[in-house]
Amino acid sequence: MSQKFIVNGGGKIKGEIEVKGAKNYALKALAASLLTEEKSTISNLPQIVDVPVMIELMKKMGAVVKETGPGEIKIDAKKISDNDLDPKEVRRVRASIVFSGPLLARTGEITIPHPGGDIIGKRPIDFFLEGFKEMGAKIFIDDLTYKIKTKGRLKGTKIFFPKISVTGTETLAMAATLAKGKTVLENCAMEPEVVCLLESLNQMGAKIKGIGSSLLEIEGVDSLKGGNFKIIPDRLETGTFIMMGLMNNSEIKVNNCDINHIGALLDRLKQAGAKLEIGNCYIKTIPQKTKLKATGIQTHEYPGFATDLQPMYTLLMTQAQGISMIHEPIFEGRLYFTDILNRMGADIIMCDPHRVIVNGPTTLYPRQIESPDIRAGVTLLLAAVMAKGKSTIEQAQIIDRGYEDIDGRLRQVGVDILRA
Ligand code: EPU
Repeated sequence: MSQKFIVNGGGKIKGEIEVKGAKNYALKALAASLLTEEKSTISNLPQIVDVPVMIELMKKMGAVVKETGPGEIKIDAKKISDNDLDPKEVRRVRASIVFSGPLLARTGEITIPHPGGDIIGKRPIDFFLEGFKEMGAKIFIDDLTYKIKTKGRLKGTKIFFPKISVTGTETLAMAATLAKGKTVLENCAMEPEVVCLLESLNQMGAKIKGIGSSLLEIEGVDSLKGGNFKIIPDRLETGTFIMMGLMNNSEIKVNNCDINHIGALLDRLKQAGAKLEIGNCYIKTIPQKTKLKATGIQTHEYPGFATDLQPMYTLLMTQAQGISMIHEPIFEGRLYFTDILNRMGADIIMCDPHRVIVNGPTTLYPRQIESPDIRAGVTLLLAAVMAKGKSTIEQAQIIDRGYEDIDGRLRQVGVDILRA
């Protein structure tokens, strides 16, 4: 059912906000628990909409999932199969594609509908299919469903990713942990969530070398032990809330963050003249007399500037003095939300689907708007927080896919927000 946020913007905000567990590690930890017949534990699991959707899919595969405490679950995937996966459920979450690696490695046969998720670009799955093929699997395509089969175990091989892919790296690495022989993955993603996943796999008995680099060497093993996944703080939430403090020129203390994971953002903010107090695991935004200086970005795979932080940064630049170029080479659909910001009063010119020029500063006005995807959605919500008057953000549940209790947490720092 469609929900909306009603925001009475333009008020003063101030206070502390707590960062939750990283969505893009939590969803992969769920998938990784299918690699073992033993029990696994996941803690600091964020209460976001994608988590129960993934858990429902796992239960349909035969996994037993029990809540054992706040944000903690135990998973028993002793017997699993891909029977009865509802294509509609699979299409709801892009991350469900990462089930394909563990499932294929454990069961030798999977049927997957083309996955869904955010509309931020074409988002093909050719790297996955090609990778499985290289590992000896046969692929049968029927309409928008893929049947993938392997006789015996997958085989170790050498795979080069034509583009750096987060879920591609994670899925093929998971499949390779149980393959026969050695798999070499080249041009891999190095995002902190990928690194944590690979480290957890090694704790389960996998033999992965090169973690944190773009070259992974994975010696297949016969079986893995149970996993213990502690979800790290979400760097994308950290970035979102810091930028919220800065765009409102407010004092916001963002707690429970890993500052080492947002180096590229901190560098750009420093260039823009932002005042921040940086502690061991917190960052506080300090109100300042002068406007931020317009400063361009180009998104890049980690450790570069995260594509997931681009929308909030673009909004931040509408409040900075001067002209900034935002270059988004990774996804071709991730700048269209700027059209909605223009409707709210921003002055943003689209050069092509990958580039916009932001002319700041501009006053934003309240509007009735709709959340297109998680990150653009939260950005429009932040725009509504700044715009003096009443805005409505439709499709609030899309924001809930990546941010736990966003309205509750914003209310704690003084935002006038209601869910309807
Ligand atoms: N790509 C292909 N073929 C493939 C896979 C990817 O061409 O088979 C291309 C994509 O079209 C894109 C590029 O490779 O141009 C990189 O995409 P990637 O595969 O890295 O994206 P993803 O794994 O689907 C994850 C996150 C996204 C995040 C991107 C980039 C998860 C569940 N999702 O997506 O997170 O934007 O990496 O960092 O991990 C979000 O959290 O809001 C979100 C969208």
